[in-house]
Amino acid sequence: MQVDLFQKPKYGAKPFLKWAGGKKQLIADIENMLPEKIKKKGVIDQYFEPFIGGGAIFFYLASNYEIKEAFLYDINKELILTYNAVKNDPEKLINELHELEENFLKGMMKIEKNFS
Ligand SMILES: C[S@@+](CC[C@H](N)C(=O)[O-])C[C@H]1O[C@@H](n2cnc3c(N)ncnc32)[C@H](O)[C@@H]1O
Repeated sequence: MQVDLFQKPKYGAKPFLKWAGGKKQLIADIENMLPEKIKKKGVIDQYFEPFIGGGAIFFYLASNYEIKEAFLYDINKELILTYNAVKNDPEKLINELHELEENFLKGMMKIEKNFS
């Protein structure tokens, strides 16, 4: 399954990470400062985000405007790998997270048994 970040989502895309310094609380202020042309047409031709972090602003704009082209960057390689995993192969990621959860729970049960 492919995820298209630019497709208008049914329920609106939201950040899936809690990120220190996220800009969620500034969304309304930032939206007010958008050029009138964008507010009227609801279309953003090009969007550049040099510090994507949790992506609060990007996900809000992508859910409420048509973004024709976006360039998203971050210095944090693990963060970019995570976004790529969610975008390119969410089912594999979900399966691996389930596996991780199962192994964790099995480990916890072993610890519990050893201490009871
Ligand atoms: C507070 S978050 C950005 C919040 C986000 N733009 C939002 O909409 O909520 C800051 C991000 O900037 C990234 N960052 C810091 N220095 C950077 C640099 N020199 N180049 C690229 N990314 C950088 C960090 O890795 C972090 O993910």
